[in-house]
Order: sequence, then C-alpha cells, then structure tokens
Amino acid sequence: MAAMSELILTQTEDHVGVCTLNRPEVLNALSVELMDQLIAALEAFDNDPNVYVMVITGSEKVFAAGADIADMAEASVVEMMEHNYLARWLRIKAIRKPIIAAVSGYALGGGCELAMHCDIIIASESAKFGQPEINIGVMPGAGGTQRLTRAIGKFKAMEVILNGRFLSAQEAFEAGLVTRVVAKEQFLAEAMRLAHQIAQRPPIALKLAKEAVLKADEMSLSEGLEYERKLFYSLFATEDQKEGMRAFLEKRKAAYKGK
Ligand code: CAA
Repeated sequence: MAAMSELILTQTEDHVGVCTLNRPEVLNALSVELMDQLIAALEAFDNDPNVYVMVITGSEKVFAAGADIADMAEASVVEMMEHNYLARWLRIKAIRKPIIAAVSGYALGGGCELAMHCDIIIASESAKFGQPEINIGVMPGAGGTQRLTRAIGKFKAMEVILNGRFLSAQEAFEAGLVTRVVAKEQFLAEAMRLAHQIAQRPPIALKLAKEAVLKADEMSLSEGLEYERKLFYSLFATEDQKEGMRAFLEKRKAAYKGK
C-alpha cells in the first residue's frame, strides 16, 4: 500500500513502514514542512499495530543534505528560540519501534543527525557522512556533537565537526557509525531485507530492547543493568514470551502477536 504526502512518501510492506524523503531539487534539505511530514509519518507508523519496524531513506544520490539553509539564513536568535525548530527532533527520539536508515549519497548536517536518530544504518558504498555546519558559520544543533562523538569517539568526531570533513561509507563503517556497507544498487534492498527479518521478532520485545540499548548512552553501567533487568522481567507479562519459549521447546516457529 503506498500513500503520498508531497515531501515524504510512505509505504507499508508487510510489517515494515517506509518513509522516503522526497525533495530532490534541494537534495532533501530538511525544511520545517518536510520535518513535520516526516514526524507525522513516523508517529503514525509507531501507533500502527501492523507496523513493527521502520525504514527511513532518500534516493541513491542523496539521503539528506541537512537543514534547509534558506529557511534559517536570516533568522534571529529570538525567532530560533521562539519557533524552537530543533525541539521537533525529540519526537523522533521518542519513536519506540526500531528504525533503519538506508543511506546513499550525502548524509550531512541534519541528514547525518537524522541517520543517527535511527537504530541501524545501512550505507551504500557512495554514502558520505558529515557535519559541515562549521562551514556556514554554525555548529551541529540536532545532536551531532553528542551522537557522533558517542558513535566514533572524541578524536574522530572533532575532525569531522571542527573541519567539516566528510567520512566515506567505509570510514564511517570502520569508525562504528555504520552497521553495514553494501553496493549502491543494493542499499535499499538490504535495509528492507533486514527490516523484514527484524519484523519477524516479537514486537514488544523489539521496543523494549531498543529502549534498553538507548539507555546505555544515558545511564551508568549499574543503573543501565538494573533498567535492563526490569524490562526483561516485564516481558514475562507478554503472550509473546510464552509463545517464543514454548515454540523453542516444541521445535516449531513462533507465531508472535505483539501481545
Ligand atoms: N539547504 C538548502 N538548500 C540546499 C541544501 C541545504 N542544506 N543543500 C543543497 N541545497 C540546494 C542547493 O542550494 C542547490 O540549489 P539550486 O539548484 O537552487 O542552486 C541544490 O540543492 C543542489 O545543491 P548543489 O548545487 O550545492 O549540489 P552539489 O552536488 O554541488 O553539492 C553538497 C552537494 C556538497 C551536499 C552541497 O549542496 C552542500 O554543501 N550542501 C549544504 C550541506 C550543509 O551545509 N548542511 C548542513 C546544513 S545546517 C544543519 O543541518 C543544521 C542542523 O540540522 C541543526
């Protein structure tokens, strides 16, 4: 089933919801309208009981070249604060289901930050990741200084952020930013293959496992271990836990219901 909302194309395939950024004339620059449509699509998938996993992608040429510079160029600090454009990103952070970024071409500035809001990044060999905001008089503002540093470490992140250097797909992979690099023709198919595989898993456990992994960035080890243990115990309230363990013992494939 495919639906179209101008700047974001959405599609559901089995239990996978796909959002495609569709503003090719400006390399998928993340305007306020595009961000609002993307967030609406992601929240709709998050609330749809038939969707277990999401994919965000662009085209083979570009994932997204960042925030829309034309939108911001003449803004005052009061306008930036009053409109609080960047607060929208918290709604992407709040999505509970796993999201795979399928990245080809440029993922720059807000585009790189969007990929880093996802949980798995599949990159085509042509992908280029960067935080070039320094070249236009600013710095990352949607999590780049925090998430890139956590992903690749301080000393590599500093070069990317302070000097605006792009990382190739292979460099990003070796540094720990990218899950897997595949041929240009394969990046979306590979992301979809992975999404369909993950969608075979119990949906409530998927959400809690994502939540627990993300807590690793926010909590001390002992707090995180305690948090993980509580989520683990809570899964024993689900039918899918009984089904998964019984199916294993009965040597059959589990039929999960998301209950
Ligand atoms: N915002 C608005 N328009 C953009 C854009 C952006 N981020 N990126 C590209 N475009 C537009 C260009 O202005 C151009 O429009 P015209 O055809 O009307 O001239 C069109 O897209 C094609 O771009 P280029 O001609 O520049 O294409 P290129 O292949 O020569 O270069 C590029 C590609 C290296 C990605 C270059 O476009 C570029 O450097 N873009 C800006 C990247 C950037 O600085 N991103 C950070 C934005 S700030 C941010 O992201 C902050 C935040 O989230 C908090």
